[in-house]
Amino acid sequence: MSRGLENRDLAGIDFGVDDLTGGELHEVLATLRESQRVAPVRFYGSDAVLFTRFEDVHEAFRDDQKFPGGDFYEMAIEPVVGRTFISMNEREHDLHRKLATPAFRSKAVSRFDEESLVPLANEVVDQFADWGHADLVAELTTVLPFAAITRKLGVPRRADQQMREWADLMLSYPSNPTGAVNAAEQFSESLGPLLEERREKPGDDLLSELAATTIGGEKLSDDEICATIRLLFAVGATTTSHAMANMLWALLERPELLERAREEEGLRAGIVHELLRWEGPLPTLPRLASKDARFAGTNIPAGTIMLFGLASANRDPRVFEDGDTFDPDRAPGDILTFGFGPKFCPGSHLARRELLTALTVVLERLPGLRLSDPEGSEPRGGILRHPASLHVAWDLG
Ligand code: HEM
Repeated sequence: MSRGLENRDLAGIDFGVDDLTGGELHEVLATLRESQRVAPVRFYGSDAVLFTRFEDVHEAFRDDQKFPGGDFYEMAIEPVVGRTFISMNEREHDLHRKLATPAFRSKAVSRFDEESLVPLANEVVDQFADWGHADLVAELTTVLPFAAITRKLGVPRRADQQMREWADLMLSYPSNPTGAVNAAEQFSESLGPLLEERREKPGDDLLSELAATTIGGEKLSDDEICATIRLLFAVGATTTSHAMANMLWALLERPELLERAREEEGLRAGIVHELLRWEGPLPTLPRLASKDARFAGTNIPAGTIMLFGLASANRDPRVFEDGDTFDPDRAPGDILTFGFGPKFCPGSHLARRELLTALTVVLERLPGLRLSDPEGSEPRGGILRHPASLHVAWDLG
C-alpha cells in the first residue's frame, strides 16, 4: 500500500467526484478488492457499494433478473435522451435493441472501416499534421469518434462541431439539467429535415435504416429515431474518445512500445485489447438495485446504488496474472470493459476499430511522436476516465 492509503478512509472515496489520478485509482481498487467483495463507497455524495472481483461483476451482469440493467438509465439518461432500449429491461429491451443495432455488427463495421473510417481518420490528422506539435485530446481523440458516428448516421460533416457540443451538453444532465434538455431539443430539431429526406430517399446510412425499421408492423416515430440517435452520441462517442486518449497516453509513456507498434502491425490489435483491460474509459458502471437482493454474502436493499467495478475486475489477480502490468503480448482473455449479458455493448466492434484505426494513422502520419508536456496527461476519474490533455510533438519531414 502506498500514497498514504493506510491512513485513508476508503469508504469515503467518491467515485463520481474524486480525481483518482493515474495509479491511485488502481491502488484503491486493489486494496478494496483484497479485503471486500462488496465495498461501501460514495457516488456523487450518496452511499453506494462497489463490486470488486471479476467473478462477482461477471455474475452481476449475467443475472439481469436480480439486477435489471435499465433502471439506472431510466433515472440518469432517459430524462434527456428519451426512452430508448438502454433504459428498458427484458423482452422490451431485447426487441428494441435488435432493431436499432444491426449497423454495429462486426461485418457492417469492417465495411464501414474500409470505406469511411481510415479516410476519416486521415482527414482529421490532415488538419494538424504539419504543425509539429498539438494537444491530441483537442485535435484527435475528441474529434474522430464523433465524426465517425455522424458519418455512420449520414449527417453532413459540417454539422460535426455542433453535434459534439450538443452531445457534451446532454451528458452534463446531472449538473446542468436545463442545458442538457435544451441541447437534446436542438439536436432533434436539426435532425428533423434530414430524417424526412431519408424517409423519402433512403441512403446507405443508419438514419435511413432506422427510418425503415418497424416494431409490431409500426414504423418508428421521429421521436423514437431521434432518441436512438441521441443515445448513440451520448454513450458511444464519449467512451471511445476517452479510450483513445488513454491508449495514446499508455504508448507515449512507453516510447519503446510505441516504436514496436510502428514496426509490428500485428501488435496493434493486442495493444487495443490490453488497453481496454488495463485502463478503460469506464472504471465503474452504476446500477440501481430495484428490489432487495442478497449478493456475494451481502444484503443489498432496494434503492442501493451499485458500482460494477470494471477496472477492478479487469486487474483481479484471480484472473489476470500480473494484472497491473500493461502487456500487449499477453494472451487476450475475456474482459468486462464492454459489460456482459443482455446489455453487452453493441458498439464494441466499432470502438475497437476506431482505436485500431486511430493508432495506425497516428503511427503513419506523426513520426517521432513524443510527449512534450506531461501535465494533465494521466487518466483521471472514477466513472469516466481519461487525460485532460496530451501535449505531444513529432518530426516534420
Ligand atoms: C471503448 C468504448 C466503449 C466502451 C468502454 C463501452 C462500454 C459499454 C458498457 C460497459 C456497456 C454496458 C452497459 C450496462 O450493462 O449497463 C455498454 C452499453 C452500450 N453501449 Fe457501449 N461502450 C463503448 C463504445 C460504444 C459505441 C461506439 C457505441 C455505439 C455507437 C456504444 C453504444 C452502446 C449502447 C447503445 C449501449 C446500451 C446497450 C443496451 O442497453 O442493450 N458503445 N457500453
